[in-house]
Amino acid sequence: MPDTDSTRQGTLHVSGHPLIRHKKTLLSDERTDGKTFRELVRELTRMLIYEATSDIPTREIVYRTPLEETRGDRIGVQIGLVPILRAGLGMVDAAIDALPGTEVWHLGMYRDEETHQPVAYYNKLPSRCPDDLVIVLDPMLATGGSATDAIDVLKQWGAGWIKFVGIIAAPEGVARLQAAHPDVDIYVASLDRELDENCFIRPGLGDAGDRLFGTGDR
Ligand code: PRP
Repeated sequence: MPDTDSTRQGTLHVSGHPLIRHKKTLLSDERTDGKTFRELVRELTRMLIYEATSDIPTREIVYRTPLEETRGDRIGVQIGLVPILRAGLGMVDAAIDALPGTEVWHLGMYRDEETHQPVAYYNKLPSRCPDDLVIVLDPMLATGGSATDAIDVLKQWGAGWIKFVGIIAAPEGVARLQAAHPDVDIYVASLDRELDENCFIRPGLGDAGDRLFGTGDR
């Protein structure tokens, strides 16, 4: 459940799992084609979701195996997923598969190419937040503006316990998100070196939305 300590600093979890490091390397390779890129995003998401949900409460149930009555566990919280369009869409299927029964609420946001400020353009949240835990999905945490604004919206909506799951992050984006939302834990496959003068993550993986959907400069 959410930590209510007001002095808390959101924790950055950078997975050290060998499979995640291997797949993130393939993902960021410029030679990786679109089909493989989409598969890798799904595979990484599935593993990161396991890490991000390692502390969720369960409740004990009594049930029968084919041989006898026994005790088991069920997830004890309602979880909602919030992909940030577009690139967050690439993470949704794998996250739903890992978390059956999950609801998906969409937020649309793009980063203005000149100002690098996030622009909100779509919000499909219902009137009240029905979830105990909301997991924001976006492969990229660059300046942190999009994630910070999205989480502002989710808190106004009533979300009490929020986690951010991405693929790669820049230190600048992590710092901004942690400063604005110290209660939000961040889970990523990689903490890259820095942002460049165009606010691209370096070494990075390019533009995740363009690589997922085959768009970009022609
Ligand atoms: C990318 C990415 C994040 C945002 C990160 O989206 O998917 O949403 O930029 O940048 P920030 O941390 O500096 O805000 P983009 O604007 O490329 O839109 P897209 O997902 O539609 O491609």
